[in-house]
This record gives sequence, structure tokens and C-alpha cells, in this order.
Amino acid sequence: MRMMTCIEDLRRSARRKVPRMFFDYADRGSYAEETLRRNRADLERIKLRQRVLVDVSQRELATTIAGERVTLPLALAPIGLCGMQWGDGEVLACRAAQSAGIPFCLSTMSVCSIEDVAGAVERPFWFQLYVMRDRGFVRALIERAVAARCSALVLTVDLQVLGQRHCDVRNGMTVPPEIRIRNLIEMATKPAWTASILRGRRRTFGNLAGHIRGMENVNSLAQWIAGQFDPSLSWKDVEWIRGLWGGPLIIKGLLDVEDARRAAKTGAAAIVVSNHGGRQLDGAVSSIAALPAIAEAVGSEVEVMLDGGIRSGQDVLRALALGARSCMIGRAYVYGLGAGGERGVARAIEIIRSELDVSMALTGVARLRDIGPQVLTQA
Ligand SMILES: Cc1cc2nc3c(=O)[nH]c(=O)nc-3n(C[C@H](O)[C@H](O)[C@H](O)COP(=O)(O)O)c2cc1C
Repeated sequence: MRMMTCIEDLRRSARRKVPRMFFDYADRGSYAEETLRRNRADLERIKLRQRVLVDVSQRELATTIAGERVTLPLALAPIGLCGMQWGDGEVLACRAAQSAGIPFCLSTMSVCSIEDVAGAVERPFWFQLYVMRDRGFVRALIERAVAARCSALVLTVDLQVLGQRHCDVRNGMTVPPEIRIRNLIEMATKPAWTASILRGRRRTFGNLAGHIRGMENVNSLAQWIAGQFDPSLSWKDVEWIRGLWGGPLIIKGLLDVEDARRAAKTGAAAIVVSNHGGRQLDGAVSSIAALPAIAEAVGSEVEVMLDGGIRSGQDVLRALALGARSCMIGRAYVYGLGAGGERGVARAIEIIRSELDVSMALTGVARLRDIGPQVLTQA
């Protein structure tokens, strides 16, 4: 893993090891992928300001996120089907996050269930909730997260209908995968991945399978899911969820100042400025472009997090300079998982930690609270 020097190295390695259908599912974006590209392009355009002869010998990266102590202003974002990138992927990623002292967020659409992860790790993790039409099922999910002692509930609000990734249609990306010659060859030629999946405890949506009456086989489960994302989702549902969940609530998927103002009034501990990693509304602005106005409007009322395109510690520094208190990474750790399981995720976190540390020093800041627009330059 030492030879993996940056997130792009992990990405290249994952592309070799993970069958194309699952690699593309993680790597790509919706429709023409304009927003996916914009997330990266807009971050790269932000220039850091080099400063010299400032004493930066005592650097401190530890902080809190939604009241939780962390060693780094970073959390692992919820990733559906994480466990198809590597067998038991959710457990491995959670262990890597906890060893590094940062939060891991389990997706509703994970392969390992809430109970699987809770039984395999030492400390509490976060749970991400999609609100399904079946509100009884949603209530039960929240109760399961409470029973598993999850330390925050991340409510994702930008997936009330599903954006399309063209590659998923072309690759036959379904659960279970469509039986196509190409997919079978791909799996046969990725022996380490195949072995990991065979060793893994599950190969379907662990939080759903066995918990929905009448959905005993995987095909009916897939149909149930497709019909369950709820376009009627509204602010009223957020109130209902707050009533069921007493712990810290994080609202994820905001890109607009008006929406952020509304979210701040719900009593949420944090909001995540996010366009779902360029996987939903194609043509939307990048998360980093939306951040400054949102941070300005609500940053004093609610903690502002950001995700979308974060691939380095320099990117985290850019986001903190523009008003985020912390960031989430999605693909950056998914590549690590595909490249080397738990060690790969640990490596992804370590790379970002070290890049952030060095970049803070070279921009002349030693403490996170000293990071502001002064670390950026227009030139
Ligand atoms: C493969 C994949 C699956 C995802 N599944 C979910 C999910 O189940 N729930 C959710 O809230 N966000 C999901 N997201 C979005 C991420 O939580 C996060 O917002 C996004 O990945 C951030 O962008 P980045 O990948 O460029 O870091 C997913 C993203 C990817 C790449």
C-alpha cells in the first residue's frame, strides 16, 4: 500500500481489480456527467496561497463533527452497495475509519446490514436514511439504527427520484447482476475480488432483505426498491423523522441557500452541501461552487459539511477555506476499498490526512480554526 501515493493510484488499482460493472457504478455520474466533471474542475480552479516563515511546528487536525470527536475534519460518506466493491466492504471501511478516528456512515442501500456492522466493529457509526414510501419500514429502520447505537442519522434528501447513469444500463448493473457473458468473464478474471465476495456474508441489500414482508427473493426486492423512492418527500417528513430520532441529525444533499436556511431551522446538527457526487441532477452546480453562499447564510446556525469531488487534502483545505467545517469522501475511499480492502481505505484516509497536514503548513496555518479565505489567492 505504501506505493499508493495518491487517490488516483488507488483508483487505477481498483479499476484493475473490481469488475467493470461495479467499478463504473462507483466511478461514473448521471447523464452527460457535467456535474460530475464540474465538482473536480471547480475545486482545481481554487488556488492556495503559499506563505513562508510562519511557525507551523505545532499543527492540530483534530476537531468535532456533529459533536463527535474526530482526528481529522473528514467522514466516510454513505455508499450504496459498498460491499460489492469488496466483500464485507462496509465492515472493512468502518473498521478503517474507526482506526483512523473518523466517522463511517452506513447507507440504507448497503450490502452488510446495520446489525452486521454493529456486530463487527467496536464503536458507534452513522446511519444514512432514505425515506421510502413504506413509512412503517422507515420507522423500523430508524429503530434498528437506535438499537445499534448509531451516533448520528444522515438523512439524504436529494434522491426522491433516481437519476440515470448510462453506464449502469449498458453494463447490466442490477442486483443481482444481469447474467451476461461479459460480466461472467469479468468476474472470472478478477479472482481476488471474486474470492472476497464469496467470503463476504451477503450479496444483496442487507438492510432490506428479510425485513419486508412478501419480498423473499432478490428479484422482488429489486422491484420493491425501484418503486419505493418517494417523490412526495417534504419538510413535514423531516419533522416526523426528528420525532423518531433523538440523536444528532445530519441533512445531506443541499445545494441551494433557501433549502439550507430551511434545513438549519429543523434543529439539525449539520447539513451536507452535496450533489450526490454528480449522480443525480446533471447540470447542477458543483458542491464547492454552492458552498460559500450556504456557509455565509447558515454557517453560524448549523455545522456545514461538504462532499463532491474531494480527492486530496488540498481539496479539504479548499473547502474549509470556503466555509465548510468538515468534508465527506465517497469515491476516494471506495477506490481504496477496491484496491486493497480495509488497508486500501486506511491508505486513502492516510493520504488525505498527510496532504492536509502538509498543505496547512505550506499555507501558514497550524490550526483548523485559523483556516479561512486568507489561505486562497485569486492569481
Ligand atoms: C457508488 C456510490 C454510491 C452512493 N450511494 C449513496 C447512498 O446510498 N446514500 C447517499 O446518501 N449517498 C450515496 N452516494 C453519494 C455519496 O454519499 C457522496 O455524496 C458522494 O460520493 C460524494 O462525492 P465523491 O464521490 O466525489 O466524494 C453514493 C456515491 C457513490 C459514488
